[in-house]
Amino acid sequence: MSHADDHEGTRRDFLYYATAGAGAVTAGAAIWPLVNQMNPSADVQALASIRVDVDGLEPGTQITVKWLGKPVFIRRRTAKEIEAGRAVELDSLPDPIARNGNKSGDLPATDENRTLDEAGEWLVQMGVCTHLGCVPIGDGAGDFGGWFCPCHGSHYDTAGRIRKGPAPENLPVPLAEFVDETTIKLG
Ligand code: FES
Repeated sequence: MSHADDHEGTRRDFLYYATAGAGAVTAGAAIWPLVNQMNPSADVQALASIRVDVDGLEPGTQITVKWLGKPVFIRRRTAKEIEAGRAVELDSLPDPIARNGNKSGDLPATDENRTLDEAGEWLVQMGVCTHLGCVPIGDGAGDFGGWFCPCHGSHYDTAGRIRKGPAPENLPVPLAEFVDETTIKLG
C-alpha cells in the first residue's frame, strides 16, 4: 500500500468516527476494538462530551468507550456485584476516597458514592489503572470480582476500588449523567 493510500484509509476511519462521535456511541462489544484501531486525533480528543447509548446492556455486562483519548468502562452491575460492593468495610480500603467527579469534596469510598444511580446498578469509571496507566481486565476479574490489572497485579473490586496491589487510588469516576433512560453523557 502506498503512503497516499494509507493516508486515505486513516482519513476515512477518522471521518467515520467523527460522525459517530457527534451523535450517539452505539452500545456493543465491538466499540472498543473499532475505536482502538484509530489514531488519536486532536479533533477527536476535543470532543469534550459524548453520549453513549446503553440500551440493551444487560446486568453483568459492560462496554468500553473511548473518551478524551482514554477508555471508559460502563458496567451494568448485577445484584450480587452491588451487594458485594456494599458489604465492604471502609477501613479495609487502601484508598478511602470515592474519587467521583460528580460529587464534591473527598467523600468516603462507599459503594453508593461511586455509582451513577442510587440503586447502584450503573458504574462508570475510567479504564486506566492508577498505578502506571494500563487498561485493567474486567468482567469479574481479579481477587475481588471486579477488575484486574495484570501489568503489576492490581486488583479492583466490583465498585472499581483498589483492594490489592501497587495501584494507589480507586479508578476515577468521570463526569457522567443519564440524560434519558438509555443514554449516558460523559463530560
Ligand atoms: S499499571 Fe496497573 S498494576 Fe501497574
